[in-house]
Amino acid sequence: MTAAPANSGDYYILETEEISKHFGAVAAVDGLSIAIPRQGMTSIVGPNGSGKSTLVNLLSGTLPLDGGMVIIDGVGLKLVKAYETPAHGITRTFQEVRLFNQITVWDNIMVVLTNRSLFPAMLERAKPRYREQAQRILENVGMWEKRDSLAMDLSYGQRKLLEIGRALAVDVNIYLFDEPFAGLFPQMLERVKDIMKAMRDDGRTVIFISHNMDIVREMSDHLIVLDSGKLLTAGEVEDALNQEEVIAAYLGA
Ligand SMILES: Nc1ncnc2c1ncn2[C@@H]1O[C@H](COP(=O)(O)OP(=O)(O)OP(=O)(O)O)[C@@H](O)[C@H]1O
Ligand SMILES: [Mg+2]
Repeated sequence: MTAAPANSGDYYILETEEISKHFGAVAAVDGLSIAIPRQGMTSIVGPNGSGKSTLVNLLSGTLPLDGGMVIIDGVGLKLVKAYETPAHGITRTFQEVRLFNQITVWDNIMVVLTNRSLFPAMLERAKPRYREQAQRILENVGMWEKRDSLAMDLSYGQRKLLEIGRALAVDVNIYLFDEPFAGLFPQMLERVKDIMKAMRDDGRTVIFISHNMDIVREMSDHLIVLDSGKLLTAGEVEDALNQEEVIAAYLGA
C-alpha cells in the first residue's frame, strides 16, 4: 500500500473494512478491506466478474452491505443509503447508463441540479442559477448542442457523456466512475479523460473502473486490483501493475 503519514484518516478519503456482498453462492465482494487516497486518481481493475461494479455499488449505497463497514471521510457506515451518499460526499456513474429517457438532455441535468423529482424539477428549471449551472455542465461534457434532444434519442457515447454530466451536477468530493471509457470513440474518450483530470486538479477524489490498461497507466496514481471479490494488490500504479500476481491474473498464467 502507499506509504501513509501518521494521520492516515486524512490521507485516505474512502475506506472499507471487511465488506462483503453475496449473490446466492457467489461471493461478489468477499471480506474486502481497501483504502483510497484523497489526492490523485485511483483506478479499480480486475477481470470480468471480479467484483468491481459490486464494490462501487456498495460504496455508493446502490446495494446494501451483507457485512463490514464503509468509512467515508472518517465516518463509518454499516448501512450506506444511496440517497444520503451526496451528503456524505459521494456520487457515481453506472456501467449501464441510467438516464430519464423520456425527457431532454437539459432536463436530465436539471433533475440532479435541483435535487428534485421529475415534475418539481421542471418547475425550478427557469431559475437563472440552475440554467447557468446546467449550461456550464453541458458545455463541459460537449452536450450543449444536444440540450433539447430526448435522452432516448442519443447515441451510446452521448448517453455516457450525459451520465458523466449528471455526476458533475452533484457537488461532492468523491466521484466513482464505473467504466466511463468503455465503448467511446477517441474524441469522446479524450474529452472524458480531460474532464476527469480537471476534476482531480480541482481537488476532487476521482475513482474509476477500467479494463483499458493504457488509460489506467496514463490517468491514475493509485491502483486497486480485485480478483474473485478479494484484494489482489493495491498501491502506486506502476508498482502494482508489475507484480507477478497481477500479471498472472491478467494473462491467466
Ligand atoms: N445483481 C446481481 N445478481 C446476481 N449476481 C450478480 C449481481 N451483480 C453481480 N453479480 C455477480 O457478482 C460477480 C461480480 O460481478 P461484478 O458486476 O461486480 O463484476 P465486475 O468486476 O464489475 O465485472 P465486469 O468487468 O464484467 O463489469 C459476478 O459473478 C456477477 O455475475
Ligand atoms: Mg462491472
